[in-house]
Amino acid sequence: MPNKMKSIHVGIPNKSYNILVGSNIVEQAVKKIKIKSKLKRAFIIWDDRLVDAQQKLYQALLKSKWEVHSFSVKAGEELKDIESVYPIYGQLLGANANRDSVVFALGGGSVGDAVGFVASTYLRGIRWVGVPTTLLAQVDSSLGGKTGINHSAGKNLIGSFYQPIMVICETQFLSTLSMRERVSGFGEAIKYAIAFDPKFYLELVKNKDKFLNLEPRFLVNIVSKCLKWKSKKVSKDEFDVKGIREALNFGHTFGHTLEAFTYYKVYQHGEAVIWGMRFALLLSEIRKKITPLIRRKVDDFLKKLPIPNLPQDLSDEILLSLMQKDKKVRDGKLNFVLSKGIGKVYSDNKVKKDEVIKAFSLLKNEGERL
Ligand SMILES: NC(=O)c1ccc[n+]([C@@H]2O[C@H](COP(=O)([O-])OP(=O)(O)OC[C@H]3O[C@@H](n4cnc5c(N)ncnc54)[C@H](O)[C@@H]3O)[C@@H](O)[C@H]2O)c1
Ligand SMILES: [Zn+2]
Repeated sequence: MPNKMKSIHVGIPNKSYNILVGSNIVEQAVKKIKIKSKLKRAFIIWDDRLVDAQQKLYQALLKSKWEVHSFSVKAGEELKDIESVYPIYGQLLGANANRDSVVFALGGGSVGDAVGFVASTYLRGIRWVGVPTTLLAQVDSSLGGKTGINHSAGKNLIGSFYQPIMVICETQFLSTLSMRERVSGFGEAIKYAIAFDPKFYLELVKNKDKFLNLEPRFLVNIVSKCLKWKSKKVSKDEFDVKGIREALNFGHTFGHTLEAFTYYKVYQHGEAVIWGMRFALLLSEIRKKITPLIRRKVDDFLKKLPIPNLPQDLSDEILLSLMQKDKKVRDGKLNFVLSKGIGKVYSDNKVKKDEVIKAFSLLKNEGERL
C-alpha cells in the first residue's frame, strides 16, 4: 500500500516543479518524474555516508526503467570548493551524460548546492532532481534553486539560480541524523514560524520533542509547512531581487556573521540562525517594534535549544565589519529583517551601529535585561 505523500507546488513561471514529502515515498516519487526523452538516464551523485539512501534511490530508479549511474562524493563544506566539483564534471563526461540525462543530488545542503551548480553548468545546464537528506536541506536549501560553491573570499560567491525539476523529501532518510543536525534543522523551521505564522509557532513550541525525535507523521506535516512558506516567497521572487525572499533571511545577518567569524567550523547553519533570531528579536525590541513581553517569551524558548555558545573573542568592531561584508548590505547601509511580533517580519535599513552593539551586548548577557 503506497504511503501518502504531500506535494508542494513551486509556481515559478515556466520552471514550476513539485516537492514531494513523505515517509517511504521514493518509489512513488520517482515514477512521477516525466521527461520527454525515451531513454531515461539517471546520474546519482551522493554523499558517501548515505549508503542505504543511495540503494533505495538506485533501486527505485531501476524499477522505473531508468539506466542508472552513480558517483559518490565527500559531503561537507569542502565539497563546495572549485577543486572538489571539477571531478564531478569529469565523471559525467566519462559516462556520456547528455542533455537528456537527469542528475540526482542525494545528500544535505552541501551536496544540493554543489551538485545543483554542476547541473546548471554542465553542457550549459542539464535537468536535476534534489533528494535532500538533512532536515536543514529538506526545510530550506532544497527549495529555491540557489546553487553554488564557495570562493576563498567568501561563501556562495559563485553560483546560479537553477531550479530542479523535482525535489523528493523522504523523511525516512532523516533517521540517522545526529541530535545536533536535528536541532539545526529545527532552527530553520522555527524561523518560518516566527517570521510568518503564529499558529505554526505554537505548534512547534508544543511539539518540539516530537520533531526532534523525528516522529514520522509530525515530521511530514512540519517539513511541508516550512516548504509552503518558502515556496510562497520564492515563487514571487525567483532571483531574490524584489525584497520578498529577503524575509526568509530572518536571523541570518547575525547568523552569517557568527559562521564567518568561526570559519564555518563551530556552528551548524541552523544553530547560527538560532543565535541570529535571538539577536534580531533584541534589535527589534531596541527599535521599539516588538514588545518586551513577546520578545522575552520567544527568547525563553529559543535559549533552551542546545547550541554552542557565542564566541568569546568576537568584538563589536569585528561584528560590525563582518556584517557590512554581508551580501545583503545595500549602499553601505546595514539592512536587517526584524520583527513586529510573531508572524510579522519587516525589513529595516535604519538600524544604527550603536543599536547593533547594544543588542550584541545584551545577547552576550543572555538577552535577559533591556
Ligand atoms: N541553497 C540554499 O538556499 C541554502 C540554504 C541554506 C543552506 N545552504 C547550504 O547548505 C549547507 C549546509 O547544509 P547541511 O547541513 O545539510 O550540509 P551537509 O551536506 O554538509 O550535511 C551536514 C552533515 O550531515 C551528514 N548527513 C547528510 N545527510 C545525513 C543523514 N541522512 N544522516 C546522517 N548524516 C547525514 C553529511 O554527511 C554532513 O556530514 C551549507 O553549505 C549552506 O551554505 C544552502
Ligand atoms: Zn538559512
